[in-house]
Order: sequence, then C-alpha cells, then structure tokens
Amino acid sequence: MGTQLIILAAGQGTRMQSERPKVLHEVGGLPLFAHAIASGADLEPEKIVVVVGNGADAVRKAASAIDADITVVEQAERLGTAHAASMARDTLKGMTGDAVVLLGDTPFTRPETLAKMADARRVGNAVVVLGFEPADPARYGRMVVQDGMLERIVEWKDALPKERAITLCNGGVMMVDTALLFDLIDEIDNDNASGEYYLTDIVRLARARGLGVTAVTCDESETLGIDTRAGLARAEGMFQAAMRREALENGVTLVAPDTVFFSHDTAIGRDAIIEPHVVFGPGVTVETGATIRAYSHLEGSHVGAGAVVGPYARLRPGAELSNDAKVGNFCEIKNAHLGEGAKVNHLSYIGDATVGAATNIGAGTVTCNYDGVSKHQTTIGERVFIGSDTMLVAPVHVGDDAMTATGSVITRDVPAGDLAVARARQENKPGFALRLFKKLRDAKAARQKG
Ligand code: UD1
Repeated sequence: MGTQLIILAAGQGTRMQSERPKVLHEVGGLPLFAHAIASGADLEPEKIVVVVGNGADAVRKAASAIDADITVVEQAERLGTAHAASMARDTLKGMTGDAVVLLGDTPFTRPETLAKMADARRVGNAVVVLGFEPADPARYGRMVVQDGMLERIVEWKDALPKERAITLCNGGVMMVDTALLFDLIDEIDNDNASGEYYLTDIVRLARARGLGVTAVTCDESETLGIDTRAGLARAEGMFQAAMRREALENGVTLVAPDTVFFSHDTAIGRDAIIEPHVVFGPGVTVETGATIRAYSHLEGSHVGAGAVVGPYARLRPGAELSNDAKVGNFCEIKNAHLGEGAKVNHLSYIGDATVGAATNIGAGTVTCNYDGVSKHQTTIGERVFIGSDTMLVAPVHVGDDAMTATGSVITRDVPAGDLAVARARQENKPGFALRLFKKLRDAKAARQKG
C-alpha cells in the first residue's frame, strides 16, 4: 500500500522574527521541513507535498535540492490545519494508500513512531493520531479516549474545564487513508472558538461513521515544535546531544563531546578520534581510525582511514583525503584529492587539485587556482616534493618523483623526475652588509645630532 506525506508548513512563524519562512531555519544543517520529511522516509512515500504560506519559492528551491519529486503547494489564506491539508488534494488525486500528515516545524518525530502508527492502521483503525503526555499540557489539543477508542480531539480554546484536565495531547501527526482524508475534510466547518478549519475534527467525523480511531503515543521530545529562535537553539542542542551519543555508541572517541558539532549527515567510522572544538558541516564522512584534531572545520569532505586532520585545519567541499593522508595546521583544502599518505602539513592552500600518493607539500604552498575569472586545476604526481612557499600557478602539472625548489613560482609543467627552480639565483656580496649597517647608523646619528 502506498504512502503520501503531507507536510503542513504554512504557519507564519511570526515569533521567529525572520524574513525566511520558518521551515527553512535549520537544525543540524537541514531545514526543519526536511527533518519532517526524513521522519517519514522509512514509509517510502511515493509522493511528498509541502504546504507553505509566504515564501513558497524559497521553500520550493530548498525542496528541490533535497528531492526533485517534492511538490510545494501554497495555502494563500491560513484558514486552519484542515484547510492546509486540503491544499494537497489536487496533487494526491486518485492516489491510493495512506496520507501521513506531519508538521513542518516539528523535526524530531522518530521513524519508529511512524512505523507504530502504520501498525495501528494495519489492524483496522481508519485514523491513527500521534499523542503524547507533556510535562505541561499548555494549549495543546486534548485527546478524548473512551474504551480504548479515540473519540475526538478538543482544541484548548474550545475545551471545557474537564476536557482541559485531560493530559493526553495531540502531537499533530495523523495517518489516514488518503481518499478518506479528503472525504472527511469536506465535512469540516469552522464553527469553533478560533474560526478555523480544524484537521483534528476528522477524528470525531470518522467515529460518527463508525470507523475505528486510535492514538499512538510517543515521547514529548518527538512532538517538539519550533516557534522561536530560543526554541530553535534548544532543538539544535537536543539534536547535537543525540548525534554525540550516537557517535560514542558507534565507537568514536570524542575527547570533549559537548564541544563537537555535527550535521544531520555526518558519518564517522569506528575508532576515529575527534578532538575538542571540531565542527562538521554537511556532507562529511570520516573513515575508521582517522583523527580530527582540535579546532578543525570540515564540510563536504571525505577523510580516509587513518588520516589526520588539524589542529586548525579547514576542509571545504570536495576535499578527498585518501587513507593515511595528513593535513596539518592552518591548511585549507578545497575540491582537491590527496593520495594515500600525502602530506600538507603547514600553512597551505590546496584547491582544485590532485596530489598523488606519498607526495609532500611544503609549508606555505599555494595552488593559485583562480585568475580572477575562472578556476584552473593543479595536478601533482606521486612521491613529489613541493618545496616550501611554492606558488603553483594553475593550470599546471608536476610529474611523479619531481621536486620544486623552495620559493618557486611554478608557471610551466614540471616533467616527472625533474627539479624546477623558479626564483632569482642567490648572489652573496662580501662584506656588503657590514658596510651598509655602518652607513645607515652614521646617517641616523647625524640626524639625531642636527
Ligand atoms: C495543532 C493542533 C493541536 C495540536 C498542535 C500540536 C489543530 C486544529 N490543532 O494546534 O491539536 O495539539 O497542533 O502542535 O490541528 N498550519 C498550516 N496552515 C494553517 C494552519 C496551520 O500550514 O492554516 C500548519 C502550521 O504551519 C503548523 C501546523 O499546521 O506547522 C500546526 O499549526 P498551529 O497553528 O501551530 O496549530 P496549533 O493551534 O498549535
């Protein structure tokens, strides 16, 4: 049976005090709405519809970067959650299976919880709703359960005191046969305290048809919705704590876990060592036994087994370190492949380059990859020795087993096995320095006298 996700994300997010749609704010480097989509990924949805208000184009752009098949529809007027869900009707027309309604500002619903909801659907419940028991039930919708059946959800504004006393609250996630969802939505009116079309009314309407409705419960953290910057920061903290826990459980050494920051897709192998104050941007893989030393920043990079990065290194997108490669302090690597055992240990920039196995790049080397208009490649062979402070003016190639002399500006290819010297030849002038010092000191003394 197919599944379709409907992500409700048209809330104005006023309290974020932001020009950006709320669901584009990120946790772990991933927009909030993409977290909701990730929660439902195990259900293998055949269609994903994101319902947005303002900023549809920006959400569309972000969505297409995640999955070209995501449909973004606009809810021009914010008339309530049922009205928002009905915006998916045209996109899902004729589709069979289950619609799973998720909230775009609620990033932590676990796939396992949605799997439990799917189980509850399979045993004959027409509608399954995610419930939770918060420490403070605040203004959440209250779930009225009788004889194990979820009879209705009462919004806080509409609830009687005895209903407000109910501790089981609506988390906002629903699973229901797709055709039935739109059928029930047609029956919903806005005759309530908020004057909104409440999606929660489908519970009552399904029960009125004699259909089974049940609640599956989860931990409060799974229904955490983000409304403010403070909430976003709290969510980031929870996300980081979970990532750190997972890394430790997977056999990664984190010397000072609280100082290491991960992205949603950071992948680190067993026995890797991550020293304090390391930041992982999106798209980083670190293989087994590698060491990332203190104060390094990595994004879009692959670090091979046994490789060592840092301290104070920066790996930018496209940095590919083969096994046992070394990138030391104050080095930046971008869109460059370092072969096995290659070393870039001090104060260098290697960009748009390939560096062969066992090659040593001396301190202060720069691949001059940009001519002000276009980027150019530097290719360096195996077992090459690049002398300190070499400028490699791309496009340029240095063959296997070649050398460059310290301080060279290399503008032409260096054949394999050759030494390239590209600097002025040294000339020593006997006694010149002593004579010059004397002259300068005499001149200074004369100035001070006068
Ligand atoms: C909703 C539920 C409530 C539940 C709570 C959980 C309803 C009527 N109430 O309340 O029972 O306890 O969520 O957080 O469903 N949205 C739209 N378009 C709209 C209105 C809302 O896209 O016209 C989206 C919002 O972006 C948000 C979600 O739906 O992601 C929930 O909307 P919100 O206004 O926060 O609902 P609550 O009143 O908090």
